[in-house]
Amino acid sequence: MSGKVKWGILGAASIARRRVAPAMAQCESAEVAAVASRSLEKSKEFARQFGIPKAYGSYEELLADPEIEVIYNPLPNHLHVEWSIRAASRGKHVLCEKPIARTVGEARRLLEARDDYGVKIGEAFMVRTHPQWLRARELVRGGRIGKLRSAVGFFSYHNIEPENVRNSTEFAGGALMDIGCYPVKLSRFIFDEEPRRVVACIERDPSIRTDRLTSAILEFPTGQGIFTVSTQLVYYQRMQFLGTEGRLDVEIPFNAPTDKPCRLFLDNGKDLYRGASQVIESLPICNQFTIQADLFSKAVRGQGEVPNPMEDAIANTAVLEALFRSGETGRWEKPEAL
Ligand SMILES: NC(=O)c1ccc[n+]([C@@H]2O[C@H](COP(=O)([O-])OP(=O)(O)OC[C@H]3O[C@@H](n4cnc5c(N)ncnc54)[C@H](OP(=O)(O)O)[C@@H]3O)[C@@H](O)[C@H]2O)c1
Repeated sequence: MSGKVKWGILGAASIARRRVAPAMAQCESAEVAAVASRSLEKSKEFARQFGIPKAYGSYEELLADPEIEVIYNPLPNHLHVEWSIRAASRGKHVLCEKPIARTVGEARRLLEARDDYGVKIGEAFMVRTHPQWLRARELVRGGRIGKLRSAVGFFSYHNIEPENVRNSTEFAGGALMDIGCYPVKLSRFIFDEEPRRVVACIERDPSIRTDRLTSAILEFPTGQGIFTVSTQLVYYQRMQFLGTEGRLDVEIPFNAPTDKPCRLFLDNGKDLYRGASQVIESLPICNQFTIQADLFSKAVRGQGEVPNPMEDAIANTAVLEALFRSGETGRWEKPEAL
């Protein structure tokens, strides 16, 4: 097949409206050809807003559209695997939002579906395709901070809206699933290792029961990762990587700006007070959602690999699952990717 890869959006989700659809309008290799919602009125309105040619009033109609090659799945977390398998069974490739599954068992079922139906499936961790993270890994691998020993992450926002999908245990919401998945993903990426064991301290909201303040330690073979995430704190995000000879800060690690350069700070620690030992690297302005959709589309056409494939998604899910176990047992737990 030639031309741009034709995508369908499964659900008029906020992330699709705010980020993905506008970003995909800039794609070289992808175009949004249809959108589906449980409400035809909503999908029509979404299609009008982004100039999308087709709008459906049910998800099944979208999956039955022979023109659509890729389904973008931004449903609430508990529906990721179910609808991604349905899409795969109709011969569609799937880019599914993070976190792709609630459990390793679920993620395994999706991997099996991918292989049974011969389609490509990826987890929409757009951060992993952003040049700032590729550069961060290059700097660490190149020895710019000496030997990497510690990864430190923080991600928080304040949201107590009862109807928000993040504030529902039934929908697999909460801090660890919604945002803890990022520092897990990126510390694994930069260490280029899997944690041997993990421990978590989890505080749940007394009424809605989602985890609202979670801190974790990940013990990697060559160092340690720590992070705190919260759904009920001031909006903030940062990741830092400390080595024997330097420190690398990723200023806006997750919601990278699209209107100004991202910045990496490198500090050799020689001047604690005046910051004179600090070097700032600015990355060219880009949109990680555009990059992600282009790379996935190229992989569909056999050019390059799927960014964030199922094998990596299973390893990430295993860490999240082990952290939840640790929150219950109060002990170190071993991620089991099965
Ligand atoms: N990569 C990122 O930067 C990023 C950022 C934010 C969110 N996300 C991920 O994207 C997913 C959606 O998050 P969101 O904030 O966009 O959520 P949202 O606005 O609530 O969208 C979820 C959509 O799912 C559909 N849906 C189907 N069954 C539903 C049900 N029982 N209850 C509620 N909605 C249902 C709805 O579409 P219709 O009504 O049109 O059918 C709804 O618009 C989550 O997995 C989240 O982790 C990723």
